[in-house]
Amino acid sequence: MKTILITGGSNGLGKGLAMAYLKRGDQILVVASSTTHGTAFLQEAAQLGATDRAVYLQADLSLIVENRRLIEKVNKQVSALDALIFCATKHSAVYTETAEGLELTFALDYLSRFLLSYGLKGTLEKAAHPVILNICGSGMKGEVDWDDLQHKKQFAKQKVMMHGSRLNDLSGVAFAQNDSVGKIKYILYNPWAVQTPGMLAMFPNPLLKGLYKLMGKPVKKAILPIMHLPDRAPVGLSAYRENKPLALSLPPYNKENAQKLYQITHKIVESVQV
Ligand SMILES: NC(=O)c1ccc[n+]([C@@H]2O[C@H](COP(=O)([O-])OP(=O)(O)OC[C@H]3O[C@@H](n4cnc5c(N)ncnc54)[C@H](OP(=O)(O)O)[C@@H]3O)[C@@H](O)[C@H]2O)c1
Repeated sequence: MKTILITGGSNGLGKGLAMAYLKRGDQILVVASSTTHGTAFLQEAAQLGATDRAVYLQADLSLIVENRRLIEKVNKQVSALDALIFCATKHSAVYTETAEGLELTFALDYLSRFLLSYGLKGTLEKAAHPVILNICGSGMKGEVDWDDLQHKKQFAKQKVMMHGSRLNDLSGVAFAQNDSVGKIKYILYNPWAVQTPGMLAMFPNPLLKGLYKLMGKPVKKAILPIMHLPDRAPVGLSAYRENKPLALSLPPYNKENAQKLYQITHKIVESVQV
């Protein structure tokens, strides 16, 4: 039985993975902000007869203080973490700032994953074959907006969502570069188009929503290649789009940019009063 923590495990891809791992016999810790979704996850786990293997941890991961609270709790309560899976995301149509003064997508889709990766590293390393699985739009084109990392000057919904993935790609590269222990598999995974509640909500126009439904895969199909990744991937960094491995020589995985972002991120975290 593996112990797996899934952020955003109460809906969409994260929920699909949580239920599939529960069916496989694993112990699942789901982190999400809404207790309505969390309670629904626990009820579905009970229907599978997996109440004793399902945990819901409420946290608003867009806040640094909440990530720190979660890290402390998990490090205290879990003896070894086999996998840490990142699915938490929220798309805002307009510029939205957290109570800590950070742009929401930057804080939730990128910074939370950064904090949890390093904060739970020790507990992951207690497992035999630990994995961090960062589900994002890995390997896509697009530049990092170094002058406006949080899009405080100019905000465009689609661009900001894609930008979060550029940051996650670099975060994976930096994590593997900085990992002197060398035990963790850090996997960047791009599921391509999936019919999740979050993605469908991105398209208020019924025609575009219908097109996305035609184009996107159902969650049950989208999770199949993900389930096998932890066995397939090498120790260190790897990246995939659906079943296809992505070359780490591609521009999104630039090593200098990765270290630059790592340094900037530390400064941002230090500057936030929590
Ligand atoms: N779907 C696609 O086509 C697609 C394509 C490429 C990449 N991806 C990536 O796949 C991952 C999963 O996406 P999805 O489409 O499955 O998302 P989704 O359906 O929108 O689900 C998002 C999850 O994040 C949680 N969440 C939202 N705000 C939160 C907060 N402040 N704190 C903690 N949890 C929070 C939600 O639960 P609560 O509301 O209860 O908090 C929910 O469980 C994302 O990283 C996304 O970038 C998806």
